[in-house]
Amino acid sequence: MSFYEKRILPHVINCACGSPAVARQREKVVPSARGRVLELGIGTGLNAKHYRAEAVTEVIGVDPSRESWALARAKIAHAAVPIEYCEASAEDIPLESDSIDTAVITYTLLHNSRSAQGVSRGGACAAAWWSGVGGRTCAGAG
Ligand SMILES: C[S@@+](CC[C@H](N)C(=O)[O-])C[C@H]1O[C@@H](n2cnc3c(N)ncnc32)[C@H](O)[C@@H]1O
Repeated sequence: MSFYEKRILPHVINCACGSPAVARQREKVVPSARGRVLELGIGTGLNAKHYRAEAVTEVIGVDPSRESWALARAKIAHAAVPIEYCEASAEDIPLESDSIDTAVITYTLLHNSRSAQGVSRGGACAAAWWSGVGGRTCAGAG
């Protein structure tokens, strides 16, 4: 990982993905999460405040970037649900099969719904992503 990827990019992402327009897309999908949640690419924890205590028992946030997680700590501390960090990659998640009720993926993994479907076999999925044209943000759950 380059210096830029390690030290600079997490701050850039925290800013760019923290805009009000993006927060509105998060609000459309993240509150639909239920039960034990796997958040793929949790990044700097920008979804944390959108989880509902009455619906979610715990969130496991997978991300290979410890630096991003360091920026997430304050947001996690104020979340209504317990959120645990798992330093791992989406290609190799150290969890049992069928142990997750909802997969949440926002602005991660090619940013499209196809990759979201791939990780949500048999479960629910809430996703938000950038569309290719004009940087529009999209959201969906199901
Ligand atoms: C654009 S950021 C989005 C962060 C967060 N999902 C959000 O909505 O603010 C993409 C995140 O995906 C993470 N990421 C990149 N490759 C990954 C992989 N193979 N598995 C899991 N997360 C990955 C990055 O470290 C980064 O935190």
